[in-house]
Amino acid sequence: MEIIIAKNYDEMSRISAEIIAAEVRKNHDLTLGLATGDTPVGTYKELVKLYKEEGLDFSKITTFNLDEYVGLAPLHENSYNYFMKENLFNHVNINPSRVYVPQGNTNDPEIFCEWYENKIKEAGGIDLQILGIGRDGHIAFNEPGSSFASRTRVKALYKETIEDNARFFKKEEDVPRFAITMGIGTILEARKILLIANGKKKADVCAKFIEGPVTSMITASALQLHCHATVVLDEEAASMLTRTEYYNWVRDNKKLVQKKIGR
Ligand code: F6R
Repeated sequence: MEIIIAKNYDEMSRISAEIIAAEVRKNHDLTLGLATGDTPVGTYKELVKLYKEEGLDFSKITTFNLDEYVGLAPLHENSYNYFMKENLFNHVNINPSRVYVPQGNTNDPEIFCEWYENKIKEAGGIDLQILGIGRDGHIAFNEPGSSFASRTRVKALYKETIEDNARFFKKEEDVPRFAITMGIGTILEARKILLIANGKKKADVCAKFIEGPVTSMITASALQLHCHATVVLDEEAASMLTRTEYYNWVRDNKKLVQKKIGR
C-alpha cells in the first residue's frame, strides 16, 4: 500500500483528484468505481474544476458506484444516485448511458446484484476504484465480518454506520437498514484502488487497517492483499499511524527513483 499524507482535507482532495485525472488522461475509456459520503465531495469538486478549466474529458469513461440504500428510488434526495448527480455527474461531460449506480428500489435485489456484477465484467472490470472508509472499517457497505470473497449483494448496516449516516436524514429511524453493495471480492478485482479518509474520527480505524492485521472485522484491511492500493489521508486521519516518517520518505523519494530508472 502506498500511503500519502496530505496536510488537510483540501490537499487530500486535490491529490486524489489528480490521481484520478491522471488515469482518465491515460485511458479515455477508463472504468471508474465511485464512492459517496462526505469524504469524496472535495475530490469530485476538484474533478469538476479540472473538467471546466482544463477540459478533462469524461465522455468515454464508464462508472460503477459501490453501493445504494435498499428501498430508495434513484430520485430520492438521500439516494446515492442523487448524490452522484449533485456532486459530479451533472457538472461534467459524463455519458449517462455509461453510468451505473445500484438500483435501491429494485423488485428483485438478488437478480439485480448478479446483473450488476455482469455489467462490471462486460465493461472489462474496474480500472480504478475510489473508496472511503467507515468508522467501523467498512469499505462500500461491507460491514465487519463480511467475507473477503463477497460479491455484490444486500447487506444489513451496522449500528455505527446507521448512526453516522443519520446526519443525512431527518431522523435516525429514516436511515435504511439495508444496502446493495459491491463485495470485497468485487472491489479487490479492481486493477487499482484509491482510498481516501480525513478527520480525527477516522484516525483509529486508519491505523488499524493500514498497520494492523488483515481481518474481516475491519474489511478495509483487505486492501493489504491488493497489489496496487493507494491511500490518501489528511494529517488528522493519519495521526495514529506509527510509520509516518517512512511513508513520507517513500513519497518524497519515489520521484527520485522514477527519475533514476528513467520514467
Ligand atoms: C459510500 C461508501 C461508504 C463510505 C463510508 C465513509 O459509497 O461506500 O463506505 O465511503 O461510509 O463515509 P463518509 O465519507 O461519509 O465518512
